[in-house]
Amino acid sequence: MTASTSAAPLPGGKTVLVEITGGVAWVTMNRPEKRNAINPELSFEMLDVFEALEGDDRCAALVLTGAGEAYSSGMDLREYFRATDKLNYDERLKIMRKSAMAQWKRLQYYGKPTIAMVNGWCFGGAFNSMIACDLAIAAEDATLGLSEINWGIIPAGTVTKAVASVMGQRATMYYIMTGETFDGRKAAAMGLVNEAVPRAELRARTQQLAATLIEKNPMALRIAKHAARRVRDMSWEDAEDYLFAKLDQLRFLDPEKGREKGMSQFLDDKSYRPGLSAYRRGPS
Ligand code: COA
Repeated sequence: MTASTSAAPLPGGKTVLVEITGGVAWVTMNRPEKRNAINPELSFEMLDVFEALEGDDRCAALVLTGAGEAYSSGMDLREYFRATDKLNYDERLKIMRKSAMAQWKRLQYYGKPTIAMVNGWCFGGAFNSMIACDLAIAAEDATLGLSEINWGIIPAGTVTKAVASVMGQRATMYYIMTGETFDGRKAAAMGLVNEAVPRAELRARTQQLAATLIEKNPMALRIAKHAARRVRDMSWEDAEDYLFAKLDQLRFLDPEKGREKGMSQFLDDKSYRPGLSAYRRGPS
């Protein structure tokens, strides 16, 4: 894919808004009047946005958040469920598949670092994108919940799988079975998000974390985060072999030859310490 130039129009603009500042693409789900409920239109626009930003040089890191009071109130009960009940199986499947692409498949192995900024209400299907992002930061007073049991269904479409991949079994069972809500602090304590911060600091802290990621070697970061997901289900033997292969692949693919540059700055120039900071990118 050819990278976009700075003159290219930004993607999205209706149910998903995009703003790029300092290398960070702020992607905002934009149906605030419906608490950013995920209808097919929003999913499809999200997918187009992700596709466009992955090849856009202006975007070095992506933050996913919601407009107004909500991150997202989950799948749209009217447009995603009731309206699609009337469709035949193939038509429904088409919508489900494309929504899954937008809500987690495309994000899980995204080419750039991703952060979910959980600014408010976050329910059910919204857990998919939150957990599919590499990192997540919540407002301390955000309200989250797996509400499915409260309306007679289960957290399906991979929500249960996603929750079980980041939270312990007791907490997973408790919140799936009770449908009780919890706040951002509790989400951080359970490992569902990396941290919770006061609402007034949410954007600044997210920006700071994105800036830290942007300093790193992009190819190393991409391979490191994908590997961290893939080795979870591998045996130790397979993981060892896979990781050595990825290390070799990285040396081959890395356009900025970070390994050589980092070693030279540490061993020859003695100008940085890798335990404490990233090597200086760009021409030596
Ligand atoms: N699907 C469809 N519409 C939704 C929605 C959803 N998941 N969540 C909110 N909305 C709509 C409401 O129907 C309402 O529409 P209206 O103005 O046409 O009546 C509008 O968004 C505002 O919602 P409201 O309930 O009035 O807002 P609130 O701030 O008082 O409460 C929530 C916010 C998120 C607590 C509440 O809307 C809610 O419980 N939503 C459902 C959450 C859920 O169970 N999601 C799981 C789906 S997998």
